[in-house]
Amino acid sequence: MSDKMTAPKIRDMKASGEKVVCVTAYDAYFGRLADMSGVDLILVGDSLGNVVLGYPNTIPVTLGEMVHHVSAVRRGVEGAHLVADLPFGTYNSSTAQAVDSAVALMKAGAESVKLEGDYPEAIAAMVHAGIPVMGHVGMTPQSVNKFGGFRVQGKGVAADAVLGAAQSIVEAGAYSIVLELIPAQLSKEITQKIPIPTIGIGAGPDCDGQIQVFHDILGLGPETYKHAKRYVEGESLLLNGLRSYSSEVRESVFPTPENSF
Ligand code: KIV
Repeated sequence: MSDKMTAPKIRDMKASGEKVVCVTAYDAYFGRLADMSGVDLILVGDSLGNVVLGYPNTIPVTLGEMVHHVSAVRRGVEGAHLVADLPFGTYNSSTAQAVDSAVALMKAGAESVKLEGDYPEAIAAMVHAGIPVMGHVGMTPQSVNKFGGFRVQGKGVAADAVLGAAQSIVEAGAYSIVLELIPAQLSKEITQKIPIPTIGIGAGPDCDGQIQVFHDILGLGPETYKHAKRYVEGESLLLNGLRSYSSEVRESVFPTPENSF
């Protein structure tokens, strides 16, 4: 059997009980690294906006920017399943808009798309067009202005709304769903009640898989987050390397005859 990971294989991992390992990537090099590490799924997230492009959040990210970065990641990834985020404002007004936007991401090399929130008609239309869809509920960053900040969602009575949205996304035909920043108990309940894999970020240990932002788990940036673990202090490693380069150039230590022609 081919080692290529596909949307149906991800969906079937729920039944086999294998955890789905997912990480974001935004360019060919980091996409290649993620792929070499053996993750199942790589997401070109619209976190591109805040992580790479310097925007304050994901709202300004355009479809053109996503297409550009999806095609870059595509060139670095072979085995992992490649998912692209539909950015804010590219699927919210009509099913036709959603299908057209998803088609642009698929033509750039995505193998499925992800969208935030409860848009069952748009999901069904994309699935009908041959595009596998991943849902996303809980703290959906494109709705940060509605939530008034990046806060845990689905606490107390609000839990039913998150569960209801997850069920509606399943019925619309999604193959998996991201649960972001919701109480661990609610994730456990959703994971038990729906037939497709739940992929958690800040949603506790009982999800069928986990997703993290590449930079957050590799320490690339000063911020630390409760929902993430820094496996490497990447920023310090890189800064040390750059500082060594600077001082060697200033002190005429680099380049040596071995670096010269
Ligand atoms: O944009 C993103 O990176 C995401 C994941 C963190 C789930 O949506």
